[in-house]
Parts: sequence; C-alpha cells; structure tokens
Amino acid sequence: MSVLVAFASRYGATRQIAQHIGAVLTVAGHDVRVRPTTAVADLRDHEAVILGSSVYRGHWMEQATSFAEQHQTALAERPVWLFSSGLLGADEPPVDLDRLGALLDARGRQVFGGALVVRRLDLIDRVLRLKPARRRALRPGDYRDWAGIEDWAHQISADLIASTLA
Ligand SMILES: Cc1cc2nc3c(=O)[nH]c(=O)nc-3n(C[C@H](O)[C@H](O)[C@H](O)COP(=O)(O)O)c2cc1C
Repeated sequence: MSVLVAFASRYGATRQIAQHIGAVLTVAGHDVRVRPTTAVADLRDHEAVILGSSVYRGHWMEQATSFAEQHQTALAERPVWLFSSGLLGADEPPVDLDRLGALLDARGRQVFGGALVVRRLDLIDRVLRLKPARRRALRPGDYRDWAGIEDWAHQISADLIASTLA
C-alpha cells in the first residue's frame, strides 16, 4: 500500500522518527514516501497517511496543524495515524493531538519521547527553554524510544495489510 509519512520538525529529531517509521514500513513491503508537510501538495498518490510533529509550548508545529486542516477532506477518506514527539511525554500530550485525531477520525494517536540538543537551538528557543516553568521538563538529551517506534510502525503495517485483505 502507498503510505505517506508527513512530518513537521524544527531541529531534526522528529524527522528521524518519521524516517524510522518509513524504513520499518518499507521493509514490511509498503511503498513509502517520507516528506516534510511543507513539501506535500496533495494526497492523490497516497492511500494511507502517518502525520507527526514535534511539540513546542504545548502545541504541534503550525505547519503540521495547517497540513491537517488544509487536507482534512482527503485525510478523512484515508486511514490516518498521528504521532507527537516531545520531552514532556504522554503525561502532557499537545492539545492538538486529540483535536486533530477527532477531526480526521485517526486510527491511532501516539506520543513519543523527543530529543533536545541545546547548541542546535536558535536564540528564541534557548531563552524559552530556560523559563522557570519549562526548565526542569526540557532537559537536554535523546529520549526517543526506537523499539517503541518500531512496534508502533509494525502495528500500522499489520493494520494496513489487514485492511487490504478485508
Ligand atoms: C522552547 C521549547 C519548548 C518546548 N516545548 C515542549 C512542550 O511543550 N512539550 C513537549 O513535550 N516538548 C517540548 N519541547 C521539546 C521538543 O518537542 C523536543 O525537543 C522535540 O524532540 C524536538 O523535535 P524537532 O527537533 O523535530 O523539532 C520544547 C523544546 C523547546 C526548545
């Protein structure tokens, strides 16, 4: 099945998660494209979509929410899965995940740990990270659970194959 993995990523951590999901699905036999949301004009060539974004200040990146809203009709006609990646994890999922999950009737919503390398941040993000409310939660490090990401991608693959056979 042709699958689009569309992502929004500011510093590359979520891009690598998207690429990993894409690699698992490719090995499982699907025809996969991994693209930034800004590089996708329409969904004609894609039968299923996985959409992910990193989280900043409690929200998905604007380019991911606008992608979901702009392609709402086409997405609602396809099997869709959503994933978030951030440092606050499942205890504080971004508000957009539930809203967009309902809007698109998503088959699955997943929150993954992210990664933060301070020297890569632009000046504004460096300052925002140090705000007292965020400082403890936004500890630099790589919290991505590659095995969990692979498990999730395998579940999606199984679901896609089951839908094809049904
Ligand atoms: C200024 C700033 C604010 C952030 N706010 C959140 C947040 O509200 N929730 C969260 O889970 N992670 C938050 N993060 C962590 C990022 O989501 C995490 O580093 C993510 O993996 C970055 O992915 P990217 O490199 O693909 O953009 C924040 C990071 C920075 C620098």
